[in-house]
Amino acid sequence: MKKHRTVAIVLAAGLGTRMGSTLPKVLHPLGGRPMLLQLFETLSNVQPDTTVLVTGPDMDPVSGMVANHKLKPNVVIQEERLGTGHAVTVARNFFEGNTGTVLVVYGDTPLLTVPTMQSLMSVRQSNENPAVVVLGFRPSEAGEYGRLIMDNHGSLQKIVEAKDASSEELNQLLCNSGIMAIDAILLPFLLDQLKNDNAKGEYYLTDIVELAILEGRSCAVLEGDENEVMGINSKVDLAAAEGILQKRYRQRAMNAGVTLLDPSTVFFSWDTNLGRNVSIGPNVYFGQGVTVDDDVEIHSFSHLEGTKVYSGAVIGPFARLRPGTDIGRDAHIGNFVEIKNSVISSGAKANHLSYIGDAKVGQNANIGAGTITCNYDGQKKSMTEIGAGAFIGSNTSLVAPVKVGVGAVTGAGSVITKDVEDDALAVTRGSQNVVPGWASRRQKPKGND
Ligand code: UD1
Ligand code: MG
Repeated sequence: MKKHRTVAIVLAAGLGTRMGSTLPKVLHPLGGRPMLLQLFETLSNVQPDTTVLVTGPDMDPVSGMVANHKLKPNVVIQEERLGTGHAVTVARNFFEGNTGTVLVVYGDTPLLTVPTMQSLMSVRQSNENPAVVVLGFRPSEAGEYGRLIMDNHGSLQKIVEAKDASSEELNQLLCNSGIMAIDAILLPFLLDQLKNDNAKGEYYLTDIVELAILEGRSCAVLEGDENEVMGINSKVDLAAAEGILQKRYRQRAMNAGVTLLDPSTVFFSWDTNLGRNVSIGPNVYFGQGVTVDDDVEIHSFSHLEGTKVYSGAVIGPFARLRPGTDIGRDAHIGNFVEIKNSVISSGAKANHLSYIGDAKVGQNANIGAGTITCNYDGQKKSMTEIGAGAFIGSNTSLVAPVKVGVGAVTGAGSVITKDVEDDALAVTRGSQNVVPGWASRRQKPKGND
């Protein structure tokens, strides 16, 4: 059987003015990556033969964002924003003369899931061969959404935009999500007939339903979930969408065996990678690029980004792990410890109040409370190396570049500016003077006897 050809068109030419931002709407992040990439990832699971991104003039960052994506999208510019029908028309070169399906999705509707997209495509490819399959939904507030007008047999007859709808039509609660799968052969013919004599003066893609019915074709609706098809138009919507996505990430983690003590307070990134038997306390945040192996405990209020944590390690509470950090097997990183671009080898411990930046810490080394690697001299960054089994006394400042040898010890409060050889003790603090009886002599009241 000949493969059903699919051309996916992503509409993203809108300005997104309601976001109140200089960043194009579809580049706002969700789960730590631009919402457009989120949508592209879902789309790539549907494996369209061709993908077309419709953007507006002056939206180079948008096309640049997906330029290297595996879907290899073709970018077309809609010079004037004359409506959703017009936006699909500017991409017509990519489907004119094709059989199969044109799948239209909106760049600002990134929460769609793969099963929903697949179901939409299956309905379109069913024996009834509907000309248009619309993903409908019943929003909590129908507001400005287009209304799906059905006949008595449950077939879609037309879509009416809220601004053009009669009060009876406005009472219809089944709404248009905007996502459609359309017969590619018929689409150019339908687009040619679009008019802009409506409330917005735009060429509505939604009008193709009525035009297809006039051609004697049927149109269908697949009902979806509001949590998947909500469009993002404002920062309030963005926050709501982030909430929906985080819920999905949390479910996915727990289904994979991760323990979340208080799921609603843990934030993941799209690429957070967690092993088995990982336990995560309340209020933990994962930025991009975190991988955690099996049997790791991450205690509350820890913040991780660009970090690999090996099995058996214990992190936090209140740990901050910044990009370029490797935490070795069974290592312990405790409260108020910040680590950046450093390798902490297996079994090493930094349990309290430290900054470790641009460092290599050897196996089983112990970093005392208050240790600071002074990695930046105001001009450049330098490395600190701490040997295996070394003991860094509390409140040591390690002025990089500097090395502390294997098994070496630094005395508490030392400022280490020169390398310390293996097995040596380095102490740089002043020696302690003791004046017996000084305190009570000072406190003795004067002239009172
Ligand atoms: C559209 C639908 C409406 C549906 C709603 C769902 C039409 C006429 N109406 O309305 O039935 O309920 O979405 O959210 O289709 N775009 C372009 N070029 C344009 C205009 C829009 O690329 O000239 C893009 C936008 O960037 C956006 C999408 O198309 O990604 C939808 O446009 P928008 O103006 O938000 O349509 P709605 O009025 O929300
Ligand atoms: Mg919209």
